[in-house]
Amino acid sequence: MKISVKPEFGHEPAALAFWTRVAGEALALGTPTPFYVCSALPMAERVAELNTALAYAGFDCGEPRRPGRICCRHWLSCKTQPVAPLLRWWREQGRPIEVVSEFELHAALAEGFAPEAILLNGPAKHHWLARFELRGLSVNFDSPAELAALLPLALKLDWRCGVRLNTSEEFDPENALLPTQFGFTAGEAVAALKQLAAAGVRLETVSFHLRSNIPSAQVYERALAEVAEVCQAAAFAPLNLDIGGGLPARQVLTPGGKVLDGEFGLRAFAEVLRSSARQFPGLREIWLENGRFLSSSSGVLVVTILDIKERRGLRQLICDGGRTLNALTSLWEQHRMLSLPERTGPEVPTTVHGPTCMAFDRLARMPMPHSLSVGDRLIWLEAGAYHLPWETRFSHGHAAVLWHDGGGLHPARSRQSFENYWGQWAGK
Ligand SMILES: Cc1ncc(COP(=O)(O)O)c(C=O)c1O
Repeated sequence: MKISVKPEFGHEPAALAFWTRVAGEALALGTPTPFYVCSALPMAERVAELNTALAYAGFDCGEPRRPGRICCRHWLSCKTQPVAPLLRWWREQGRPIEVVSEFELHAALAEGFAPEAILLNGPAKHHWLARFELRGLSVNFDSPAELAALLPLALKLDWRCGVRLNTSEEFDPENALLPTQFGFTAGEAVAALKQLAAAGVRLETVSFHLRSNIPSAQVYERALAEVAEVCQAAAFAPLNLDIGGGLPARQVLTPGGKVLDGEFGLRAFAEVLRSSARQFPGLREIWLENGRFLSSSSGVLVVTILDIKERRGLRQLICDGGRTLNALTSLWEQHRMLSLPERTGPEVPTTVHGPTCMAFDRLARMPMPHSLSVGDRLIWLEAGAYHLPWETRFSHGHAAVLWHDGGGLHPARSRQSFENYWGQWAGK
């Protein structure tokens, strides 16, 4: 049923039918709510959609690579959706992974990624990366101190090295006047590129990640022009241009009701890449690390209405999952919601709350059918990217996760037991 499939979202009836059916199957298996269901199928669709736009602009998106063509390579942004069966599915397709922490590097190795298929990003890696003696990694350096500390290892282990640049298009999303903490300034980057070249390492890549939910392709265009200037100043012709993630999520609204990807066209984006690539003679590959765009729609969160209150003209649905435990993104995003069973009829102002003792625990606020009842299930869509990594254990344990591989549903992670929740303390 469509409680919040308002016109501004767009409809995608096939996706709504898919998730209604899959959530129903998970409930029929007796899965206790709250739980997430994740699936590779929506992610495969997004990859195909992006590749169609890139191929239209003349890029190669898979093997074999045609001579003279620039190849686009998608790295799985591990932090965005660190779900073990997703990593396995991605690896089985021969695709590589991008990691930003010691745990994520362990996870990538545990899931069978070869070092040559692993890209290291993120700040302050010199405090842990030296513990791994891995040959052939791709490593994007993030600061002068990190570079100085890791340079001997980069030489010894034949890493494919890159430098992350902090362009003026990258800023603190909460204060556009201030920069983020990532990467090298232009001056530092020129010095770093010269230092790496002089040291004789395999210097191949220049990289950036601007921010999330980038509103238009022109933002990438301006950033790429800055990167080209830095490369010229350093007399560096990169083989790989790593443009990070940042493509906006689909089917998601801002709190004010604006469609996040309303002004973003994939064709325009691919065209910007094609024309900007001319500024990089000798370029062989463009690397993309999209999280939100690829995986937002690859999961849903299912909760049960436990209690209902009506006060001061507002109906409040208290559920067993919500923002605090399962969906921090609801702070800055509105998502589509469905109910099981389908409920229709007159709508009233309604707030959906989670079970924690925080007024902050508000999954959604919008008109919803008055017929919604205790025991009904709510399905919060687009619960792929940045839901599982931002879970909490606030008064409750972690939710169960199921995986849908196209053939059927499989348990991927059990709901956290009390023994696991409390047993982590010393002396237990
Ligand atoms: C280096 C890097 N690459 C890729 C991503 C994925 O970003 P998004 O989910 O906006 O595509 C991030 C997110 O923070 C990042 O820091």
